[in-house]
Parts: sequence; C-alpha cells; structure tokens
Amino acid sequence: MSAVTQFSSKLPKHQTSIFTVMGKMARDHGAVNMSQGYPNFETDVRLKDLVTKAMKDGYNQYAPLAGIPQLREQIVNKIEALHKKTYDPNKEVTVTDGATQALFLAITAFVQPGDEVIVLKPAYDSYEPAIELNGGKPVLVQMKGKDYEVDWDEVKAKISSKTRMLIINTPHNPSGKVFSKRDMQQLEALLRDTDIILLSDEVYEHIIFDELQHHSASAFPGLAERAVVCASFGKTFHNTGWKMGYCVAPAELMAEIWKVMEVNVFCVHHPTQRAFAEYLKTPDHYLQLGNFYQQKRDRFLELIQDTAFKAIPAQGTYFQLLDYSEITQEHDVDFARRLITEYNLASIPVSVFNKDQLDQKQLRFCFAKTDETLVEAAEILKKVR
Ligand SMILES: Cc1ncc(COP(=O)(O)O)c(C=O)c1O
Repeated sequence: MSAVTQFSSKLPKHQTSIFTVMGKMARDHGAVNMSQGYPNFETDVRLKDLVTKAMKDGYNQYAPLAGIPQLREQIVNKIEALHKKTYDPNKEVTVTDGATQALFLAITAFVQPGDEVIVLKPAYDSYEPAIELNGGKPVLVQMKGKDYEVDWDEVKAKISSKTRMLIINTPHNPSGKVFSKRDMQQLEALLRDTDIILLSDEVYEHIIFDELQHHSASAFPGLAERAVVCASFGKTFHNTGWKMGYCVAPAELMAEIWKVMEVNVFCVHHPTQRAFAEYLKTPDHYLQLGNFYQQKRDRFLELIQDTAFKAIPAQGTYFQLLDYSEITQEHDVDFARRLITEYNLASIPVSVFNKDQLDQKQLRFCFAKTDETLVEAAEILKKVR
C-alpha cells in the first residue's frame, strides 16, 4: 500500500480497457481470440534478420531525435510516390514509438488547457485520455448509422473559437470504413481559413480493399498544410510489438513536436530503424498488404455466410463488424462476454468506442489471424442462433 494518500488522479474516469478485460477473459476460457487488434502470424524473417544484423553491426546507441536520415528518406519517398506530396526529410518527419506516441506527441505539443479537440466516434481509445491529460476537452461527434458515415455539417457545428484540433482516422478502426475523396474534400473546405490542426491517424493506410484508394491528408494541400499524419510500421509489417511508427507534418508544427519528443523519449530503437530503412526499399512489402488482408476478409465473410450474423464488408483495416441483431437484443458488452463464456470466442463490443456507449448490436472481429483461426471462429459463429 502506498504511503501517499493525498493525490488526485489525472484520469479519474479511466478504467481498465475493454481490450484488457476481453483479453483476460479469452485467456481464462481458452477462447479463440479475435478481439486483439494484431496478427497471430509472424513478421517477415528478412526483417527480423535485418534488425539482428543492425545490432551485430553496432547500431546500438542513440539514434538522432527525428530518426535516422536513411529511414526518413524512405518515408518521404513512400509518401511522394503514393500521395504526390513532398515532405522535407530534415524538418518534417519523425520516427516514433508506434503511432500511439506520434498521436500523443501531437496532442501534447498543441493542446493547451481549455482547448477543444473534435473527435469522431467510434474512436481509438488513446485520443481522449491524451487530450484530457493535457487539460483539453474532447468534443465528440458520433459517425452515423451502422456504416458510420461522417455528418460534416454536424462536425462544422461543433467548431468553436476554442477548437484547437480535429482528429480523423482512415481507414477507420473499428468500423473498417475508408474516408472517400469527397469526405476529405469536405473536411478541407471545413478547415479552410481556420487555425485548426488536423491529426490524421492513418495506421491502416495500406490495408484497403476492393480497388478503393486511401485518401491521405497528405494528398490534399488544404489539409497537408495543417496536418500531423501518423503511421504505424507495426500494423503494416505484422510486428505491433516493435512499436515503430512515424509522423509527418509541416516544419513549423514538427518543430513543436520535437520539443516534446526530446523530453519524452528523445529517440526510438536504433537497430529497428536501420532494418526498416532497408526493408522499405522494396515497396511490394506494403503495396501487397491490401490483397493479403482482402483474402482474409473474404475468407472470413465466406465462412460466416450461413450464420445469423450480418456483415457490411470492411472497406479497409483488419477489422470486420458483425451485426447480431437477428440473434438477440442483449447489450453488446453482455453478448461479447457471453460469446466468450458460452462459446469460447472473443470479440470486442463496438459500444465501447462510441459516443455515450451507443449500442448498435455490433461486435468487432479482428481477421488478422491464420486461416485455421478464421475457420475455428466461423464454426463457433455458426452455432450461435
Ligand atoms: C486507429 C489506431 N491508431 C493507432 C493505433 C496504434 O498504433 P501503434 O501500435 O503503432 O502505436 C492503433 C492500434 O490498434 C489503432 O487501431
């Protein structure tokens, strides 16, 4: 027990996350686990060898704050090729400890006490606590319907003189929605002539299906000039445990992010940076990712065709929402728990991501799993009536 009893929590509302809860329940019941947002298969052995080689070659001391130049160069080349936007590798790129750190750095660098930050719900769970830790106020806008369309007029109505930042996520966790070009253009029009910073979480940028295109904030001049774009190597290269990512932003914004980076971690794992700098020279590694995951999505959807669950196929990410409203009207958290305890299958109830825990009778399944796991899960789903 702590001798210190007089302190107040900086995150008083924060509870154990649903991911921890479901993960533990899944382990306790030996359940098939489609709740966790990461692959249950291995990263490329070549990439592992490159990290090992970098360690053996002696790259074991601090890297530069923004990341090694070779990796920043590769990141700039990738964005230039895909989105026709040229960032300055010396002033506008930072390699981070996963996208989560990039998000936290951007929020900490710019959100002052009393500032408002517009967050589209459902949302990844790190945004709101990061805003609150910095004294900001999350202003929540629920995306509409079971396919999560953004009502840009509602977003516009939420903009006030206190709005410092707006956060988007495309492709979107948990819905699998991909923002259209029209979405991005509407956002661009909305932010024109404002001082609002756009924080664009694009960690699933390469996991996109059915010939759709990822519309990065980098590709829209009116967005790129105010955007911090965050990306994750963990999501792209099947190694979420390495916690490597990056952000890009205009030089004036990046200079502020560096001030926080310097006192936060200073720099991130050096040998892994060496490895990614080499690996990114082969764009096929990330360009094929959409096809790779589309096969998994399609396989999963085909396997569950004869179940009572209904799906709107995910447009991107490695998450598929399943609608269970024809089976039961139970609250999604209760139903997700029962799926584990009675059927041995773990998922995530979508209400935990929504504004006011809106329950639309949907569960999120992560299909970044081996085919055996997908088959096992589908066999279970067939029994749920
Ligand atoms: C939308 C979104 N943003 C950010 C992250 C975190 O990325 P990283 O593991 O690179 O920190 C995740 C991981 O689940 C995510 O789903």
